[in-house]
Amino acid sequence: MSLRFLTAGESHGERLTVIVDGVPAGVSLTAKDLASDLARRQAGHGRGGRMKIEQDAARIVSGVRGGVTLGSPITLDIANRDWANWSEVMSVDAETVKRKPITRVRPGHADLAGMLKYGANDARDVLERASARETAARVAAGGVAKQVLASFDVRVHSYTASIGEVRASVPPTIDWPGVEASPVRTPDSRAGQAMVEAIDAARAAGDTLGGTFTVIASGVPPGLGSYRQWDTRLDGLLAQAVMSIPACKAVAIGIGFEVSALPGSRVHDTPVYVEGKGFGHLSNRAGGLEGGVTNGEPVVVHGAMKPISTLLKPMDSVDVKTREPSRAHYERSDICVVPAAGVIAEAMVALVLANAFLEKFGGDSLPEITRNLQGFLQQVRQ
Ligand SMILES: Cc1cc2nc3c(=O)[nH]c(=O)nc-3n(C[C@H](O)[C@H](O)[C@H](O)COP(=O)(O)O)c2cc1C
Repeated sequence: MSLRFLTAGESHGERLTVIVDGVPAGVSLTAKDLASDLARRQAGHGRGGRMKIEQDAARIVSGVRGGVTLGSPITLDIANRDWANWSEVMSVDAETVKRKPITRVRPGHADLAGMLKYGANDARDVLERASARETAARVAAGGVAKQVLASFDVRVHSYTASIGEVRASVPPTIDWPGVEASPVRTPDSRAGQAMVEAIDAARAAGDTLGGTFTVIASGVPPGLGSYRQWDTRLDGLLAQAVMSIPACKAVAIGIGFEVSALPGSRVHDTPVYVEGKGFGHLSNRAGGLEGGVTNGEPVVVHGAMKPISTLLKPMDSVDVKTREPSRAHYERSDICVVPAAGVIAEAMVALVLANAFLEKFGGDSLPEITRNLQGFLQQVRQ
């Protein structure tokens, strides 16, 4: 692997830590570059009270000098601003820790599976890491990957395609600042209004809502990924990365599930050669990937989010201590996170693409990789 990352930290622990390894030297990187995606992850109609407390910021601790990467591992540090309220519950110290075990597990969350797996008698020990708070660390790592990709004019965006049963009508050209101005990050303002109303109705009913998002990476050169082995196919790697987002239950590439119902003549994209520009396609139903290899078209990945599993009106469950039927535990929670999931998916897609990019055009510094990329682009244009 060329670019990899690890995250650590509990949801209500002191901080999240990320190490991003394999970033080449010469990429411009400041904390400001990471700030806007961290803020976008926290926004969107339907988020819970915690988002007002947090206002995440990533501090760059290593791997950067004077705003430029050194080629050495980059450490990022995100303080949990809520820590002050949790320092006793989440204390690492045996003398000071305060325990009030959570035993009424939430259907759909990791509570029961995690307690069984780790032999825990307090769901707090499970949910603190299973919580999507960890995705703040991923978004920070993804911000680094986006800086690498931006050095080569590769851009990664996302939008909300549906919330509950409300589906956006998506124009062929997307106004990205318009998407960011929408309270649910959707390009269809009328559907956006209906999505907001659907979220409010779910909140009023003590319920939650899921939906779908789409990520589009543009400027991606052909030749990333490989059909060489099952685990080098880029479509598979993207699917794994996006599916790993908590509550993401389906991933599709290009027109996705629609391929199964259409004849081949209406699925496959006709390749063309344009003088001076090189090879391209008349359409992009494949979502920029054929044979697990990028084909020069934008990479298009969709994800489907299930509704949040912590309900204001808790579902029937079991108390793992008494083994009696019981209502699930409730803890301050989001109603709908689809707009945020799109931002997290951008990060995951950027991390996978940056890794594939560095594997293909390898090199230790930006000028070296640029030379390799230009040589390859010249080769494919001829
Ligand atoms: C941005 C984001 C925020 C989330 N917020 C919550 C939340 O407030 N409450 C909750 O129960 N689940 C929340 N989830 C979903 C849980 O993290 C997820 O359902 C849980 O980890 C179990 O994993 P699974 O749904 O993939 O099986 C959130 C997910 C994301 C992506």
